Amino acid sequence: MSKYRIAWMPGDGVGNDVMEACRIVLDGMKLDAEYIPCDIGWDFWCKEGNALPDRTVKALEGTTCGLFGAITSKPQDEAKEELIPELKGKGLVYFSPIVKLRQMFNLHTNMRPCRSYPGNPLNFRGNLITNPGGGEIPIDQIVFRENTEGMYGGVEFFPLPESVYEALSLNPKMKPWKAKGLESVALSTRIVSTKGCTSICSQAFAYAQATGRKRVTLIEKPNVLRETGGLMTRCFREVAKAYPKIWADEANIDAICMWMFKNPQDYSVLVAENMFGDIVSDLCAGLIGGLGFAPSANLGDTYAVFEPTHGSAPKYSGQYKVNPIAMLLTAKMMLDWLKESDKASRLESAVARVIKEGTVRTYDLGGKASTLDVAREVLRLVG
Ligand code: IPM
Ligand code: MG
Repeated sequence: MSKYRIAWMPGDGVGNDVMEACRIVLDGMKLDAEYIPCDIGWDFWCKEGNALPDRTVKALEGTTCGLFGAITSKPQDEAKEELIPELKGKGLVYFSPIVKLRQMFNLHTNMRPCRSYPGNPLNFRGNLITNPGGGEIPIDQIVFRENTEGMYGGVEFFPLPESVYEALSLNPKMKPWKAKGLESVALSTRIVSTKGCTSICSQAFAYAQATGRKRVTLIEKPNVLRETGGLMTRCFREVAKAYPKIWADEANIDAICMWMFKNPQDYSVLVAENMFGDIVSDLCAGLIGGLGFAPSANLGDTYAVFEPTHGSAPKYSGQYKVNPIAMLLTAKMMLDWLKESDKASRLESAVARVIKEGTVRTYDLGGKASTLDVAREVLRLVG
């Protein structure tokens, strides 16, 4: 019997390519694990009307944690078009299975580290005013993204039901919408709770303290989103009181996109509501070479699912072209969570060396190596 049972969810597109690469490394490192293949993704939506079949949810319940590749998500109309004929017109509604997984398993915290590994030709170099020599700017950021609330709660309406309109009319700002015709009004909600906001802020500060980081930045927009942004800001300030040595600052989502692009080295721990965390984590990835370098962990109290931040890149699917480094760093996060610290740090060092040595590189780095070549090179250096 293996020590760990890991749910194996390649998902769609290049999720399969990078998971295969990941397996080369995990097997080579002799992780004492059994991998349980689980169905998830677009094919299951098209054939079964459910991208996250019940059998998968059941299987996950018997595992230590999950490892996930990538998912194809499409807007509702396109999703319905691609259902097999027998399932069309049955009122099936598409939900992103990864978003559903996060909610079903209460994976409330999404950690997304972005570190610039020296020698990556795609590392951010700034402009000639902030960085006259044009060399790499060292970046070591981590986004704590609230993972189950906010604009991802799935509370949406179209058309707007009369009853919902009536309830919302308690706020006089709702009045003009009736004149536009409720049948032509769409509504997506942003719902946050004190518990959710406090939890994500607490984890960001605790992480900063544990890792010796000096700054935690809240990303919000409380000047416009007065209630949800206001609640998050109050929770952030309350949590910050317990960490007097850490600089707690606040930025609006729009402003921080500009500041992080200009001075990325100034930021360390970032904390945000679901949608803002989604947006800003892609920005962070862009600064350190792109989504090919950005791992993530969806963490709950007792269960976790690890996935690279990137999508399924259908045009590269099955070609073994894409960079597996985000996936390998994701496996590193899983090893940390499993308390396999030695394996985790050996894996990260090997990845860093492959980037630095630069002889085995995928196309995004100007190289010709395949996804699996990179994995084999990482394994060779793991020792
Ligand atoms: C991410 C992705 C997902 C998200 C998509 C695939 C639903 O963009 O993990 O950042 O929006 O959370
Ligand atoms: Mg995203």
